[in-house]
Amino acid sequence: MEGFAEYNTKLEQVFYLWKKDSSSFSNHSNITASKVRELIDITTLRESGVFFTSDALAEKAINSFNVPIDDTALVVDPTCGSGSLLVAASRKLSVMPLASETLRQWGKQLCGIDLFPEFVYCTKLRIVLESLVRGAKADKSLSELLDLLINIHTGDCLDNLSVIAKATHLALNPPYSNSKTTARYSWANGKINNAAIYYYELSLVLKDGCSISAILPDVLRSGSRFAAWRSAVEPALTNSNVSVEGRFDKQTDIDIFILNGLVNKKGFDKVEWQTAETLGKAGSLKLRDFFEVAVGAVVPYRDPHEGKLYAYIHPKTLPRWGEISKIPESRNFLGRVFQPPFVAIRRTSGPRDKHRAVPTLVLGKRLVAVENHLIVLTPKNGSLDKCRELLKLLEEKYVNEFLNSRIRCRHLTVSAISEIPWRF
Ligand SMILES: C[S@@+](CC[C@H](N)C(=O)[O-])C[C@H]1O[C@@H](n2cnc3c(N)ncnc32)[C@H](O)[C@@H]1O
Repeated sequence: MEGFAEYNTKLEQVFYLWKKDSSSFSNHSNITASKVRELIDITTLRESGVFFTSDALAEKAINSFNVPIDDTALVVDPTCGSGSLLVAASRKLSVMPLASETLRQWGKQLCGIDLFPEFVYCTKLRIVLESLVRGAKADKSLSELLDLLINIHTGDCLDNLSVIAKATHLALNPPYSNSKTTARYSWANGKINNAAIYYYELSLVLKDGCSISAILPDVLRSGSRFAAWRSAVEPALTNSNVSVEGRFDKQTDIDIFILNGLVNKKGFDKVEWQTAETLGKAGSLKLRDFFEVAVGAVVPYRDPHEGKLYAYIHPKTLPRWGEISKIPESRNFLGRVFQPPFVAIRRTSGPRDKHRAVPTLVLGKRLVAVENHLIVLTPKNGSLDKCRELLKLLEEKYVNEFLNSRIRCRHLTVSAISEIPWRF
């Protein structure tokens, strides 16, 4: 937060300099309009250790609204942070000759809420400076201009639902942390990702026709544990679009997507959570057409060493991209076991790995107990050749691309693996 206060002070100083002599911002002065723009842009702030929505992403989210932002719009950002989404939204609004008249109008149309007063102050400062950079004359003191942004304030958005309900445009980049307390919904219980909770709670109060653009963690789009959340939110969103964006930014190792659409409470639409790239070409063959896909059944810390003795594999015993016929470990097990030949894929992998699905071909006659960090692919025709074909296929660049857009969280799922397009 220290770097944050400094950033706010910097923004204040720029305002004072600007007001003193706006001609000093011409090309021959030290501070030009483009330098101020750079300062408004949040990269500078992120270098101080605080990260928020990048300006490019904010711009993309604002440009994704189904309905253009015009002079009658009310754009609400319920978790506005340092204000990137509202600054991007202000760029859609007209500028008048004076900052006071511009900000009076913007103040009616831009609504932002955040728990932290220093973030709220930052949002307002950035919007004031944005009006000056766009050509409005600083005709009032800083505090008078800040006061015109009457709808940007400190608070808990979940206590401000009546304000949020008035939105014509909801721009949302909620916190992605898990809830501190146990939450109970029809779609999940326990400590749930706040992004799922905030999107759900806020979308309930929005009126029909409100345009939503939300930057959300990819796990909500692709994770199997959020399937019920997806079913809960999708009926009330029409004309929806999903755009897979990849990593949040260089410093933040979270994958995100933008969800946009129009609220329609009586609707029963579906959202295409999987984009064209994630699904592969419709009608084409998939891996599941040739293989049975299942997760290994052994949970080592939970399962008793009881039952028959089997060969036992886990990720550490398997050569990556290789074959194994003499399995060095055995264990007793009561659950499901697998008959070789089959291909075992490590479940844990991330979008930055060279290969998402790293296989080992398992051979031999003995039945095998498989640890649950592995996915087992057994050829439906029992053929070793089919397994070897699969190993080749997994090296293909398109498989990585498919898995990266299909599932960005770190655990590969049976459904993601089953849907890999089979292109030979
Ligand atoms: C991912 S950041 C938003 C980034 C923002 N779009 C920006 O441009 O800086 C999430 C923000 O939500 C705020 N927040 C978390 N819980 C909140 C709540 N209940 N009400 C309002 N704001 C909240 C945090 O303080 C944080 O600034």
